[in-house]
Amino acid sequence: MSEPATALRNDTFLRACLREPTAYTPLWLMRQAGRYLPEYNATRARAGSFMGLATNPDFATEVTLQPLERWPLDAAILFSDILTVPDAMGLGLSFAAGEGPRFAHPVRDEAAVARLAVPDLARLRYVFDAVRSIRKALAGRVPLIGFSGSPWTLACYMVEGAGSDDYRTVKTMLYARPDLLHRILDINAQAVAAYLNAQIDAGAQAVMVFDSWGGVLADAAFRTFSLRYTRAVVRQLKREAEGRRVPCIVFTKGGGGWLEEIAEPAEGGGADVIGLDWTTDLGRARKRIDDRVALQGNLDPTVLFAPPAVVAAEARAVLDSFGAAKRPDGRHGGHVFNLGHGISQFTPPEHVAALVEAVHGHSRRSRNAT
Ligand code: CP3
Repeated sequence: MSEPATALRNDTFLRACLREPTAYTPLWLMRQAGRYLPEYNATRARAGSFMGLATNPDFATEVTLQPLERWPLDAAILFSDILTVPDAMGLGLSFAAGEGPRFAHPVRDEAAVARLAVPDLARLRYVFDAVRSIRKALAGRVPLIGFSGSPWTLACYMVEGAGSDDYRTVKTMLYARPDLLHRILDINAQAVAAYLNAQIDAGAQAVMVFDSWGGVLADAAFRTFSLRYTRAVVRQLKREAEGRRVPCIVFTKGGGGWLEEIAEPAEGGGADVIGLDWTTDLGRARKRIDDRVALQGNLDPTVLFAPPAVVAAEARAVLDSFGAAKRPDGRHGGHVFNLGHGISQFTPPEHVAALVEAVHGHSRRSRNAT
């Protein structure tokens, strides 16, 4: 069960998720703990491998805190991976050096689909231990975000057996044997909901569902095979812990065209926050959903390769595209600043310093000016 709650000293991120007034726009970065940080690479070398890092709560705690030691980010994210769930289903995950993830036993035929089952959560105990350990180490500095892949995004890796350029195997299954894919997605949805709820029990103060490959689907297929199962997960989530709401963020990469559908109001069982990639303008997105949910995003991660002055200007442009959180009618929108996808491993860390300073400084000044 969770540790006794230490008072949260910076709740700006949680407040923005719930569309409550904040003194500035909070920010964190997808993949903020990762290979662009030399200290991450040093810890990874000590751990021996990515899974060695992720399965050891002490190492996972150390790398989760590394970006927060450098910059005043407003949230921490559990150091783990979305592929821990299919690994616990027995698919045999490995990360070969210099390559992406690989499964020894992809789920491609009727027999493999029939064998698939919701994993025993005891096999993911290292994740919940990491959540407890990170909460203790954070000691109330900022909230901790837990996460999972969406049922569809997990299925992409489970069926392909690795990353893919065209998702040919899983999309062929979608059209040729939708019954098999529906069974995989149904099991994934049950597993992901139980996994996220166990992270919340262990101390996660917000949760995020990564639908990283929702955007590769045709419109009707997205609704039937991605959105429907993401919704099933969100509806089963615990929404309160330690006397506070636990916000839920749904990020569909390439999902801007489905914003209205993804943004089911939280009161109706939907997410509190919708994550957007850089192809959607935040101001226009806000109008389309009339501030019924908060928005997270959406700086193009490639901007971080430009000189710091350009990074700062582009960050201000993202803040200005969202506009003032407080509307003329008195209602509030919510904006959590982030990149539109994970930070690249080639990012110069000094450029992140310029980004953090620009987001905090410009948003604070804009609030004071109105
Ligand atoms: O954001 C954070 O700091 C928390 C950690 C985190 C990782 N993966 C660590 C990681 C999170 C939130 C993830 C999610 C994840 N993993 C997603 C969804 C987000 C997205 O990017 O769309 C996906 C699709 C994966 C699957 C995955 N894991 C891939 C494709 C790879 C290899 C390619 C790559 O980008 O490196 C991983 C490995 C991985 N997960 C690394 C890290 C830091 C790098 C591995 C290493 O250290 O060698």
